[in-house]
Amino acid sequence: MTEIRVNETVLRDAHQSLMATRMSTDDMLPIVEKMDQAGYYALEMWGGATYDSAIRFLNEDPWERLREIRKRTPNTKLMMLLRGQNLIGYRHYADDLVDKFIENATKNGIDIFRIFDALNDPRNLEASLKAIKKYGAHAQLTIAYTTSEVHTVEYYKDLAEQYNNMGADSICLKDMAGILTPAVARELIPAIKEVIDVPLNLHTHATSSTAHMTYLTAVEAGVDIIDTAISPFAEGTSQPATESMALAFEELGIDTHLDIDVLEEIADYFKGIRDKYLENGTLDPKMMFADPKALIYQVPGGMLSNLNSQLREAGALDKYDEVLNEVPNVRADLGYPPLVTPMSQMVGTQAVFNILTRERYKIVPNEIKDYLKGFYGKTPAPVDEEFRRSIIGDDDVIDFRPADRLDPEFDKLKEELGELAKNDEDVLTYALFPQTGREYLEKKYLAPTASDEPIKIQARYGK
Ligand code: CO
Repeated sequence: MTEIRVNETVLRDAHQSLMATRMSTDDMLPIVEKMDQAGYYALEMWGGATYDSAIRFLNEDPWERLREIRKRTPNTKLMMLLRGQNLIGYRHYADDLVDKFIENATKNGIDIFRIFDALNDPRNLEASLKAIKKYGAHAQLTIAYTTSEVHTVEYYKDLAEQYNNMGADSICLKDMAGILTPAVARELIPAIKEVIDVPLNLHTHATSSTAHMTYLTAVEAGVDIIDTAISPFAEGTSQPATESMALAFEELGIDTHLDIDVLEEIADYFKGIRDKYLENGTLDPKMMFADPKALIYQVPGGMLSNLNSQLREAGALDKYDEVLNEVPNVRADLGYPPLVTPMSQMVGTQAVFNILTRERYKIVPNEIKDYLKGFYGKTPAPVDEEFRRSIIGDDDVIDFRPADRLDPEFDKLKEELGELAKNDEDVLTYALFPQTGREYLEKKYLAPTASDEPIKIQARYGK
């Protein structure tokens, strides 16, 4: 290995992981032209939770952010994270909506779509892959990494080969929890490289403090692209620091294409931004510490803090360890889904119910019932039939691609939105986030003044 390429995550995953995706466009734009000079392979800067956060908390148009960043980055590819048929929302959308979303994202400047499915069911990537090809963008088909008795090297090898054969332009191994260890990377990376003929990108998190070793091992084992975050927004639940990785690899004789001086200027800029968010409490310094619990429990750091706050709200924080021990049991019952959105929330909530009601599966959320009916896709391991029937009774279980149940919906949603639908982007905002999306559009188009409008809207919609 004589060279690698590096993606910068500060505009998406770094602030999503450290401070609930609250970085504003105003804090990004002054430095983006400089970032364009750094030699990054791509800027990961859109998708994931950024869209939701922009309309819900920042009162910003996510499409405007994309266009403004695009204008300033003629030399660098822009990448977004897309949850396959879930796009950037929380349910499966019909194929026509997937097509419309990708058409508009491409038109506004996305070059690379990093697409994954929470169950690693390739059928859930078909529609987005087709649209990405149709609009001439790069499809990075992505494997969600997790551990279980079925998630063997062979399993990942088969999946990588399938993604390769489906027409991936590159493949990403996405370790959203930061639990991929150097020993596993040493075995897994060459096994995947063996069956693919496109570049392999590794994405991990510094949560457990093993990511730096994992990156070195993975690069030595043949990985082509890694993801890092500029130092002020690196480490902890974010990625390892860009400058540190660049310096270490350059010294090892591995060209990263990065300009260290430019990285220094970018870091200086983001130090000021980080300090602002630390001072106003948006960034909790605890998120920047190492937390090997993720490695021990094989549970993503974000899920640990969610469980913690769910239990605190329920006044049952003393049940934290019991719930944590129940998570692997629920996951086994459900056929070992990776703990990534939306499965992490579903498994976590079920574990909380199982412990707080003192009876397992006494209360089962509809999402879990739908999951057991096959609406989310194929489970990684088979689910015990007796268990399934105890939850969904005689209801049908589908074995076809889940989105085949869904009728086209774009035109219907456009009509529903009425005068607020000024363009495709507005319809997509409403489709993805029916309530907050509509509220956002009302603020944008109907509000005479911005100041007291959120209260009026709350009164109108009751929430
Ligand atoms: Co990530």
